[in-house]
Amino acid sequence: MKNIENQKNLLGKRVLLRLDLNVPLQDGIIQDETRISKILPTLKFLIQKQAKIIIISHAGRPKGKIVPALSLKLICTNLSEKLNQKINLITDDIRKIENKDLFKNIDGNILVLENIRFYPEEENNDSNFSQHLASFADVYINDAFSCSHRAHASVTSITKFLPSYCGLQFNSEVTALKKVTSEIEKPISCIIGGSKISTKIGIIKNLIPKFDNIIIVGGMANNILSYKNVKIGKSIHEENCNEIVKNIFETSKQYSCSIIYPEDVITSKSLDGKPEPKKLNDISDDDMILDIGEKTIKKIDNLINSSKTILWNGPAGYFENNDFANGSFQIAKSIVKNHKSNSIYSVAGGGDTISVLNKINAINDFNFISTAGGAFLEYLEGKEIPGISALN
Ligand code: 3PG
Repeated sequence: MKNIENQKNLLGKRVLLRLDLNVPLQDGIIQDETRISKILPTLKFLIQKQAKIIIISHAGRPKGKIVPALSLKLICTNLSEKLNQKINLITDDIRKIENKDLFKNIDGNILVLENIRFYPEEENNDSNFSQHLASFADVYINDAFSCSHRAHASVTSITKFLPSYCGLQFNSEVTALKKVTSEIEKPISCIIGGSKISTKIGIIKNLIPKFDNIIIVGGMANNILSYKNVKIGKSIHEENCNEIVKNIFETSKQYSCSIIYPEDVITSKSLDGKPEPKKLNDISDDDMILDIGEKTIKKIDNLINSSKTILWNGPAGYFENNDFANGSFQIAKSIVKNHKSNSIYSVAGGGDTISVLNKINAINDFNFISTAGGAFLEYLEGKEIPGISALN
């Protein structure tokens, strides 16, 4: 992928910039501004190049219709405050706008086109629509890795019509993901958690051949315990997953990848009940497994200490209740400790994992935190990411 950093020909150019400004909004308030903050370096870089910037983004899933609650207005104001300059929201029908109309009677060099998913052509990856968008600018930049798993007009077909580059955030996301999937420094370990094993099976299968250790925690580890004939009481688990688990163990043997799962647990009678540390043999019929125990935490700490690269996706327990968040917090602290002594390259991603890190203020103590959600997971599964293929 061509990255904008080394491009000398951007000076004074009109740039069509695809961003992912799809941030959580509630009652007119942006709940998490991380995605906006992360694309500021690209915008500042283009401002320095005196580029005229036309921003495209989606918000939510309006399904090709105008949904006022999904307007980019608030986000535009927030961006304007962050950059301390005027940013104009263009609400006219994009399909009727002509190149010469843009920036006419407008104060400043940055425009935001209203939510691109208000147009059905976007999700249909309509070539005429993207060709029309391309007519607005000299260059296209994709700094929206987090929606590049979507083959949409402003992500993929647009690249047929303009010289196309990836932005700074996109580039750092892919660089970090390569370090945990292809350009690996070994030993490499993955900690994978969350509630459903079936949603993570694609990732586990893709990583087994490359990883030394896969540590399975969280609700999905209950399926492993159950497969190993441990009584899991009332704990969450998925039905009919024994074949999946069997397959994980068989494939891991073939590639000499160790599968690690809880050796002791924290249980309770309910989600807000008293936490009780238990050995696997002592779990009773009315117990719920809600976190990993001390012995397991120690084992994971040792594996992290002996790894050179670590990938973390999914909490170790029911971290929403602090009584069951210790396992997740200790994993985070162990990674942070190794990060601070420069002995590990660390990548984390996924909404719940980010919430854990925010709870203990550790978000800046990893080499890379991905806010990409679906695109992050699909990349780890080894799926083709249409936005990357288009840039290539
Ligand atoms: C995301 O939030 O993961 C991206 O903005 C993509 O959104 P989508 O899942 O609605 O395509």
